[in-house]
Amino acid sequence: MTEIITNDRRMREIIQLARTVAQSRATVLIQGESGTGKELMASLIHESSARAQKPFVAINCAAIPENLLESELFGYERGAFTGAVNSKAGKFEFANGGTILLDEISEMDLRLQAKLLRVIQEGEVDRLGGRKPVTVDVRILATTNRNLADCVREGTFREDLFYRLNVVNLTLPPLRERTGDVSLLANRLVRQFADKNGRSILGISPEALALLESHGWAGNVRELENVMERAALTTPQGGMVQAAELKIERQIRGLADETQRAATPDLSGWSPGRTLDQIEKNVILDALKYHQGNRTHTAKSLGISIRTLRNKLADYRRDGLEV
Ligand SMILES: Nc1ncnc2c1ncn2[C@@H]1O[C@H](COP(=O)(O)OP(=O)(O)OP(=O)(O)O)[C@@H](O)[C@H]1O
Ligand SMILES: [Mg+2]
Repeated sequence: MTEIITNDRRMREIIQLARTVAQSRATVLIQGESGTGKELMASLIHESSARAQKPFVAINCAAIPENLLESELFGYERGAFTGAVNSKAGKFEFANGGTILLDEISEMDLRLQAKLLRVIQEGEVDRLGGRKPVTVDVRILATTNRNLADCVREGTFREDLFYRLNVVNLTLPPLRERTGDVSLLANRLVRQFADKNGRSILGISPEALALLESHGWAGNVRELENVMERAALTTPQGGMVQAAELKIERQIRGLADETQRAATPDLSGWSPGRTLDQIEKNVILDALKYHQGNRTHTAKSLGISIRTLRNKLADYRRDGLEV
């Protein structure tokens, strides 16, 4: 059962609204920075709905290459494309009667957006290569860490689809704006991680708590989870978590160091005979590895659009690379 830990007034209002709209079939758009709990909120909506016993199917639109995303979502018939030896149902069909979560919806390309709009309007999906549409009853939830209205203005997201998705909007506040939540979550998390690892920790010292509360938490609750997991492991048995143990500052600098190491010139810089394309390819692959395959984070860190990144990776795949 999903538990969203919070003491924050805004969060509590959002959870209340989520529980109320869960009863309906309304499409819900969940916005918020990375790590604010969007997927958690989606699970809560599904679990609080009359569809709770039916499937909850999540698909990450940023993690799957464009051409695959289409067949994953809508399915295909045998012979629809080279390699389609058997027919396969898409996620929409799997989710029938239940809920589908379209994670990181802003990364869906415009052509697929048009197809999705049709599913929402008609309540039926067309498998690739299929002759007749399949009727589905699926509740749609979508998340994004980009402002989707901005994407509409920039022309990368269809306005009509935006309105269809944004029937109910839940925008989760970043952790740094939730007074009280840092200390509540930090205490809960350190206890959970200590229990899980068979360690006994008394709590968090006032200095450590003050440090936690002044931190920016760009990675929100996910970042706090990481910090508290490490603290639960490094704090001496029977002791309190101390400020020095949190290594918040060092952690950030450590990351920067690693980024630099991953991109050292001998790996990706120029040397005689190397073309710009080759150098670029090395940089992109390094960054992708560093971000553990997460395309959104990789594209962001390189200052390019996710679409550009995808196109480049598709080129590399054509050259036989497995990316
Ligand atoms: N209020 C909360 N209480 C307990 N755990 C939380 C809370 N918010 C987030 N978490 C935990 O933090 C982590 C990140 O949450 P989640 O995956 O839902 O974030 P997200 O908004 O989907 O992030 P991203 O945009 O990066 O995908 C998860 O492990 C989740 O369980
Ligand atoms: Mg998520």
